[in-house]
Amino acid sequence: MTAPKPGGGAAAAARAAAAGPRTVLITGVSRGLGRALALELARRGHAVVGCGRSAEHLRSLEAEITSPSRHFLTVADVRSDSSVAELAKAAVERKQVPDVIVNNAGTINKNNKTWNVPAEDFDMVVDTNIKGTANVLRHFVPLMIEKRHGIIVNLSSGWGRSAAAEVAPYCASKWAIEGLTRSLAKELPPGLAAIALSPGVVNTDMLTSCFGSSAALYQTTETWAPKAATMILSLSLDDNGASLTV
Ligand SMILES: NC(=O)c1ccc[n+]([C@@H]2O[C@H](COP(=O)([O-])OP(=O)(O)OC[C@H]3O[C@@H](n4cnc5c(N)ncnc54)[C@H](OP(=O)(O)O)[C@@H]3O)[C@@H](O)[C@H]2O)c1
Repeated sequence: MTAPKPGGGAAAAARAAAAGPRTVLITGVSRGLGRALALELARRGHAVVGCGRSAEHLRSLEAEITSPSRHFLTVADVRSDSSVAELAKAAVERKQVPDVIVNNAGTINKNNKTWNVPAEDFDMVVDTNIKGTANVLRHFVPLMIEKRHGIIVNLSSGWGRSAAAEVAPYCASKWAIEGLTRSLAKELPPGLAAIALSPGVVNTDMLTSCFGSSAALYQTTETWAPKAATMILSLSLDDNGASLTV
């Protein structure tokens, strides 16, 4: 595992700013980390292609985001290959093929001993976190290959590099993301890079699901987003295959 690369710092901020406005696909922008990242990137002048399952939450993001007409926020379910295919087609039609992909959409099982996890809970985690990421790669990486450039960020977790009781499906899915990302990194042609990124620990609906009320002791999405945005925007081809942490 590569050593953590700090999210902040003047050099990273300068690298992030130097590259100019970019189009960033973020899956799961309706809540949590994805929403906060979309707001931060839009504030910095970047264009966001974002999806989630909740039209209502996407409308609320649209009402808050800087320059709403520059972005493409739409309902898409990453578990569905055809839904992601439609998203990719629409992005091409709008001339918004991403320069950066952030595979952020994710879910966690309700805390439960491994042998008590209902089959549908396990399926939901695997279908969203692993197969959802694969669906996005299937439809968007060829578009990046055509453009001969692109940075792919797959959201991992501390639990993609360690383990905890009662969240085995989630841990398994994030260890899978680490492996998938390293394989992908070996396949990508010049000009593209894939990075597994652990966001750290942030107070979101997901954290409340596994930590209960102590989720409130952790950093807010508003504190996290500027660090994450700077780090993501400063990623380079040299980071291909790395496992990093915000
Ligand atoms: N928060 C943390 O401390 C933490 C730590 C380590 C890793 N992570 C990772 O960071 C990412 C974001 O986590 P979070 O804490 O922000 O979670 P969250 O608050 O539960 O938000 C998850 C987001 O993913 C979207 N989503 C879920 N299923 C989807 C689907 N099938 N299709 C499209 N969008 C979907 C949700 O929107 P809809 O419900 O509208 O679809 C929501 O916008 C996840 O990959 C998570 O594993 C988080």
